[in-house]
Amino acid sequence: MPIGQVTRGTTGTNRLRRVDRWIAQLSPLRLASVPLVVDLGYGASATTSLELHQRLARVRANVEVVGIEISQERVTEASKSARPGVSFRLGGFEIPGERPAVIRALNVLRQYDESQVLANWQRMVDRLQPGGVLVEGTCNEVGRVASWVDVTTDGPRSLTVSLRLADLSAPGASGPSIVAERLPKVLIHRNVPGESVHRYLADLDRWWQVHAPLGVYGPSQRWTAVAASMKQDWPILGTKARWRLGELTVDWHAVAPRGFEW
Ligand SMILES: C[S@@+](CC[C@H](N)C(=O)[O-])C[C@H]1O[C@@H](n2cnc3c(N)ncnc32)[C@H](O)[C@@H]1O
Repeated sequence: MPIGQVTRGTTGTNRLRRVDRWIAQLSPLRLASVPLVVDLGYGASATTSLELHQRLARVRANVEVVGIEISQERVTEASKSARPGVSFRLGGFEIPGERPAVIRALNVLRQYDESQVLANWQRMVDRLQPGGVLVEGTCNEVGRVASWVDVTTDGPRSLTVSLRLADLSAPGASGPSIVAERLPKVLIHRNVPGESVHRYLADLDRWWQVHAPLGVYGPSQRWTAVAASMKQDWPILGTKARWRLGELTVDWHAVAPRGFEW
C-alpha cells in the first residue's frame, strides 16, 4: 500500500516555476549519473510534472521525471500525457521504483499534520541516490509566494523563500513576511514569538522597510539590499544572482523549530 493519504489535487500551470528554477541549479541534478527526478503528489493534472521535465531538460540532458501520486484516478488521467522522459505511477512517501537524484514534493505535506513531517522526510530521503536531495515546500495558487526546505540523508540543509518582488512593492502590499502563510509544514505553525523563523520573518520585513527608498531603482535592487543586510545577522546562502530573482536562502539551523532533531 502506498504510504500517505489522498488529499486535494489543486495544481496549476506555471505554479511551481520558482522551485523548478532553483532545482535546475542543484548539483545533485547536474552531476547525477542517473538523472532521475520524482515529482511526488503532482495533483489533479500532469501539468507541473511536464513543466518540471521541460525546465530541467534545458540544463540536464536525458533527465527523466516520474510523477508519483497516491490517487489511482490521478495516475490514470496523467498517464494519458506521458511522453519520452515523463511517466506516471502510483505510490506514496515510500517512493517506489528506481532511486531518484531529486524528489520535488510541493504542496503535499501541507495537508498533513506537523507531527508527520519528520518521519516522511526520513522515508523519502532514504530512497534518494547517494548525494540526492528532497525539495519539500509550499506555494500559493499562482506560485508567486513560495518556500521550501532541501533535505538530504544528513537532515535539512536550508530554507528558501521565493517571492514575486513586483507584488511586494504594490501600494498597500504587506512585506516579505507574506510568506508566513506558505511556509513548509515543519515551520508554518512556528511563526510565533520565541521561534527563530518568527524573528527571521520580522527581520525581513524590517529590512524591506529600511530599504524602501531603493524601490525607485526597482524591487530587485531593494531585495538585494535586504539580502545583504540580513547577511549581517543570519547565515544567508546563495549569490546576488539568486537574490535578484526574489529568492533568499538561509542555513536551516538558523531557523529550525525549537527542539528540532534529525
Ligand atoms: C495540492 S496537490 C499538489 C499538486 C502539485 N504538486 C502542485 O503543487 O501544484 C497535492 C497532491 O498530493 C497528493 N498526495 C498526498 N499525499 C501523497 C503521498 N503520500 N504520496 C503521493 N501523493 C500524495 C494528493 O493526492 C494530491 O493530489
